Amino acid sequence: MDVQEKLLFLPKSGKETVSFSTGSCNFIVVVVSTFSVAIHVLLFLTAFLRSGKGCQGYQPMLYTPFQAPIRKTVQVWWPGDAWDSSDYIGPPTSSRDEAWDRLQQVQGIRLKPDEAAKLSLSKEMLLKNGDQGVFLGYQHNLHCIRYLYQSLHPEVYGRMSGHDHAALEHSYHCLEVLRRSTLCQPDLTLTEIFWKNDKNDSVTLKADSPRECLDIGAIMRVAEGRKYSRSEVTSVQA
Ligand SMILES: *[C@@H]1O[C@H](CO)[C@@H](O)[C@H](O)[C@H]1NC(C)=O
Repeated sequence: MDVQEKLLFLPKSGKETVSFSTGSCNFIVVVVSTFSVAIHVLLFLTAFLRSGKGCQGYQPMLYTPFQAPIRKTVQVWWPGDAWDSSDYIGPPTSSRDEAWDRLQQVQGIRLKPDEAAKLSLSKEMLLKNGDQGVFLGYQHNLHCIRYLYQSLHPEVYGRMSGHDHAALEHSYHCLEVLRRSTLCQPDLTLTEIFWKNDKNDSVTLKADSPRECLDIGAIMRVAEGRKYSRSEVTSVQA
């Protein structure tokens, strides 16, 4: 099998354990190796948008305004080969920028005061009508995936130039956010694998394995109905 995730330090000889030096990974290697993860996450989301019939699934314990749609799960097949470029991934174009903008149309949702109370939220981000502004995990993940995508094209998106939103630190943050989110809500799809070539020395995943997904179309419609504008936040000047 090929080792796709190269280690910074390989074991000297015959030793089983490998020690990592934290904080000195090569940024490009990290981003490029996680690029395929980003592609998979993105295609997962686009598959959500083309979802069909539902059945019972997720039972949340914490309060969520998404109870009805989130319980509806759908079976989807990822179309084609996820290594292909998509509406979201590939060399920067204005149509890709627009596709990302549509995916990120809603950034944050409002909760009624009684909903916020169920989660014991602080009243930091109150809106003018007394609702509370919050951000959704998937929205933050999308921000991070788009950020990492853009960081692959610093010549277009001005990343890595030293100011806050371009910093290496922000990319590390995004990788850590996606790592945690992946472990928080692990994708349990049983993905078929097959040999990539005749030598049988490398495996690849079957892109169109059937998978069960939450109904992101329904989730996004609920989010759309609860979106707020920046000018509604009480501390922001209209
Ligand atoms: C590779 O795997 C296939 C399927 O298991 C098998 O038929 C074939 O003989 C293998 N080839 C080599 C070179 O091991």
